[in-house]
This record gives sequence, C-alpha cells and structure tokens, in this order.
Amino acid sequence: MRAVAAALLGLALAAGAAPAQEPEPETEEALPAGPGREETFGACIGCHATAVIRRSGLSRERWDELMDWMTERHGMAPLEGALRTTIVDYLAEAFPPRRGTPGGRGRNPFLIEQGSAR
Ligand code: HEC
Repeated sequence: MRAVAAALLGLALAAGAAPAQEPEPETEEALPAGPGREETFGACIGCHATAVIRRSGLSRERWDELMDWMTERHGMAPLEGALRTTIVDYLAEAFPPRRGTPGGRGRNPFLIEQGSAR
C-alpha cells in the first residue's frame, strides 16, 4: 500500500514538475480555410506566428500596403504578381476590418450599440 502511495506521489510530482509543453508547430489550419491559405501560410509563417495575422482585420487596400511595409521594415521578400494577389485576396477575405472593438478592447458597457449609426 505504501508503495502504491509512493508511486502515486511520484506520478503527481512528475506531472507537476514537467516543463511547460512546447507549443505545437503551427499548421495551415491555424488560418481560416479559403483559396490562398496555403500560399499565405507559406509566405508569412517564417517570421511570426499566425496570431499576428489573426488578430488583425484590414481592408484589402490596407493589407496590400502591409505587404510593402513588411518588406520595407521587416525584410520580407517582396511579394509580387499573382502570388501577391492571391495572398492579399485571401487576407482581405479572411481578415476583414472589424467593427466596434479596435485592439480587442472590450465593448463599452455604457454605450448602447450604435448599429447603423456608423
Ligand atoms: C521577413 C519576416 C516577415 C515575414 C516573411 C512576414 N512578416 Fe509580418 N511582421 C514581421 C515583423 C518583424 C513584424 C513586427 C513584429 C511583431 O509585431 O511581431 C511583423 C508584423 C506583422 C503584423 C502586425 C502589424 C501590426 O499592426 O503591428 C501583421 C498583420 C503581419 N506581420 C502580417 C504578415 C503577413 C500577412 C505576412 C505574409 C504575407 C507576413 N507578415 C510576413 C516580419 C515578417
């Protein structure tokens, strides 16, 4: 009986002491399905996680500008031609501008939804 208890204790300790799990490498599925997902994942995952993309919501024009910014500021290989169109189309479709909560801040509980007022 003592042995069982000791074994259980050992297990509990081992579980508790286990190092934090490495995050799984991301797969394409981290991004919403759609034409261009594979290309986008391939072009963007080299430098940062998809979370950086997923938390953004931009118009097609702003996504297009962002591609230049990524190249000029962050050294991304320039995206051009059909591949650029594919990727920007995908981003605009999958991550359109979000209304209401810029930066993910909570809604203001004191404001009545403005609905069509915007
Ligand atoms: C060569 C490296 C590199 C590549 C490739 C790259 N990025 Fe970035 N990106 C960065 C860096 C560096 C930042 C700024 C640091 C950060 O916010 O983590 C950034 C930031 C961002 C941001 C946040 C912008 C903001 O508002 O702060 C978005 C969105 C983004 N990247 C989208 C993309 C998309 C979409 C692709 C693929 C088409 C891509 N990135 C490819 C380096 C890269």
